[in-house]
Amino acid sequence: MSIHIDAVKGDIAETILLPGDPLRAKWIAETYLDNPVCFNTVRNMFGYTGTYNEKTISVMGTGMGIPSISIYANELITEFGVKNLIRVGSAGSYRKDVKVRDIVIAMSASSNSGINNLRFTGANYAPTASFNLFKKAIDAANTKKIVFKAGNVLSSDEFYADDFNSYKKWAEFGVLCVEMEAAGLYTVAAKHNANALAILTISDSLVTGEKTTSKERETTFKNMIEIALELA
Ligand code: ADE
Repeated sequence: MSIHIDAVKGDIAETILLPGDPLRAKWIAETYLDNPVCFNTVRNMFGYTGTYNEKTISVMGTGMGIPSISIYANELITEFGVKNLIRVGSAGSYRKDVKVRDIVIAMSASSNSGINNLRFTGANYAPTASFNLFKKAIDAANTKKIVFKAGNVLSSDEFYADDFNSYKKWAEFGVLCVEMEAAGLYTVAAKHNANALAILTISDSLVTGEKTTSKERETTFKNMIEIALELA
């Protein structure tokens, strides 16, 4: 077992889906996986391993924010040998052309988090998705005729920004949407020679104020999960 994951080596597959919400992890396991077995309940951060199309795959919650996902990604890679980490989560749109319910595949993740400033004093690191996972996700989306957008996202440390209008600057520089974890995931994966990708569904828009209902989030979430499951 590692500090935050009560599993033994071999319990967790090489490929793992990572929603922020542990109950979402449970729902994904129970809905999509054959013979799901729970490998973690520490902090109720549920993790399951099962099979999808006869391939072994795991799914586990990460909690919210870069510190939380960084802890789990670190332990999954270094203690359990996980190779492919795929975040599946929600995001807020920063641009008119990115609509509520759209899927965004994050090629790169900008951030206002201090963590990479601690690592790279006086310089900027560019957290980037795994090209292989990115290409596989694009191919899966195209095969399934699921429309998506791809580009740079913002991994923010704040959900409730003091300056609401701060999103406009990021939008001006091409950032599609805001979430809270991808930059941490991409950085930890790169450090430990693993592959990472974030696939996001737009749940709200800072531009229009529109929000999806929880029922709608369930259905739009399905397209994103179906792309992610093909990455095993
Ligand atoms: N995830 C979904 N919507 C978000 C938002 N508006 N800000 C940060 N993370 C989000």
